[in-house]
Amino acid sequence: MQDSVKCVLEFYRELGFESLPLNYSNIKGSNKLRVASNELKDEKEPEDPSPVTRYSLPDKEDALRALREDIGDCRRCKLSKGRTHLVFGEGDANARIMFIGEAPGREEDVQGRPFVGDAGRLLTKLIEKMGLKRTDVYIANIIKCRPPMNRDPLDDEMATCFPFLDRQIEAIAPQIIVSLGKISTYTLLGIKGPLSSFSISRTRGKFHEYKGIPVMPTFHPAYLLRNPKDKWLTWDDAQAVLKKLSNNYK
Ligand code: URA
Repeated sequence: MQDSVKCVLEFYRELGFESLPLNYSNIKGSNKLRVASNELKDEKEPEDPSPVTRYSLPDKEDALRALREDIGDCRRCKLSKGRTHLVFGEGDANARIMFIGEAPGREEDVQGRPFVGDAGRLLTKLIEKMGLKRTDVYIANIIKCRPPMNRDPLDDEMATCFPFLDRQIEAIAPQIIVSLGKISTYTLLGIKGPLSSFSISRTRGKFHEYKGIPVMPTFHPAYLLRNPKDKWLTWDDAQAVLKKLSNNYK
């Protein structure tokens, strides 16, 4: 017993975590999260408390399909010239959690899917440590085409593309958004002032809001690859997200 506890602790330390995850399980089929039974006060299947859910699942899927059609073979900004694939986003249209990154990188541009490179593999690990699968959540970016040499998206590119993400959020109506990194957080929170003076370190870890939806800012997985010592802070943020979701079902 002691050996197995030691093994688990070492495993988490190898991943860069300094605190243990809470034990959450995913209720199959309903895409609802609940805490381990000893933490759950009411075992009855609760009503969906989300104040932002406006569509049923087929409506959400229809809304996303319609949005994809509207975007079409987008030529609205100059990024279209250099892209291989537009990266629309993927996941469960009925997801409770939506992860929003910055922009597709090289691997995402090639595959047409969000977060499938090195940073994506770390994001997938985080999602799995949260007791979920990638297919349980929805993953998208502030902009849908890769900027050349992975430079930061420009204001005009974000202004052109953001209304599509806004519609995507409205269609999915997640209970929580996790904004990954500085640009995603700055954009979603509508921060005034220059990006250069915005600090993700000071903003992460507390809930903010986008159109009434709680937003948890955290570090971008690419940053965590360069600064693995900060992984435990992101794990704290992930636990706060799980706790908030579980509170919705108490
Ligand atoms: N970084 C992002 O912000 N988004 C991706 O999809 C991949 C890397």
